Amino acid sequence: MMPRKKTDGQRPPEKPLSGRVSLVTGGSRGIGRAIALRLAALGADVAVCGRDEAALRETGAALHAAGAGALAETADVTHARAVAEFVAQVERELGAISILVNNAGLGVFGPAHERTEEEWDRVLDTNLKGVWLVSRAVIPSMIRRGSGDILNIGSLAGKNPLAGGSIYAASKWGLRGLTTSMAEELREHGIRVSLISPGSVATEFQPATGHDASKKLRPEDVAHAAEMILLQGAQSFLSEVDLRPLRKR
Ligand SMILES: NC(=O)c1ccc[n+]([C@@H]2O[C@H](COP(=O)([O-])OP(=O)(O)OC[C@H]3O[C@@H](n4cnc5c(N)ncnc54)[C@H](OP(=O)(O)O)[C@@H]3O)[C@@H](O)[C@H]2O)c1
Repeated sequence: MMPRKKTDGQRPPEKPLSGRVSLVTGGSRGIGRAIALRLAALGADVAVCGRDEAALRETGAALHAAGAGALAETADVTHARAVAEFVAQVERELGAISILVNNAGLGVFGPAHERTEEEWDRVLDTNLKGVWLVSRAVIPSMIRRGSGDILNIGSLAGKNPLAGGSIYAASKWGLRGLTTSMAEELREHGIRVSLISPGSVATEFQPATGHDASKKLRPEDVAHAAEMILLQGAQSFLSEVDLRPLRKR
């Protein structure tokens, strides 16, 4: 079993995640990028994937500059073979993955009855099937080592109705079921599967809504929630975090 980092009982270590290897899906921009950079600052080696090569190159360079062992490669989370090949590459080049952040996601908006079958498949394949595919590829080695952290990025739309975003909401409600059930399957193996459910975050994710962007959460707020989960005590399981912008409007 791989030990979690010990503190000296007084001061937390400066790089509490050093020696750990992490994988952040959709780490090229937005929330995933902020989490990847936070993990690097905390001492972890970080692998990120997405589909846009140029954005990945830029994030890979930022991770290197932060002093982390880093790997930034294209991999589409909806394709089982691409996922398996990417996970194998990360384990070969950085080592066994002990932190997985399932963040890659997208939305389509507008009433469900006006959306197409292609849009349904794209959202569900990315936000739900993709999480299962990547987790499935990473979990066997976590089980062998008897520990690991899997953080799934859900949404408050995975707990509440979202008029004009039904298909997105369906994917995130599904993710909530997948996360909480997998958490029960894996906790006895020393693996924590947790869910962070943010409200509106200022990224490229949503078309402009006319809402004041300065009131939205920032990607770094989600990274802070991820840090809290990862730095909890080894005996503790912070299973869900709901993260709201403080001011509604
Ligand atoms: N922004 C919000 O208000 C908000 C609120 C609650 C929850 N969330 C959730 O937070 C997560 C990140 O959202 P964000 O706001 O950071 O969005 P974003 O800026 O659009 O970033 C999405 C990331 O996912 C990647 N991605 C999308 N499809 C992918 C695929 N098939 N394979 C691999 N990577 C893929 C994107 O890269 P490529 O396009 O290059 O593949 C990008 O790196 C999502 O799960 C979203 O549902 C966002």
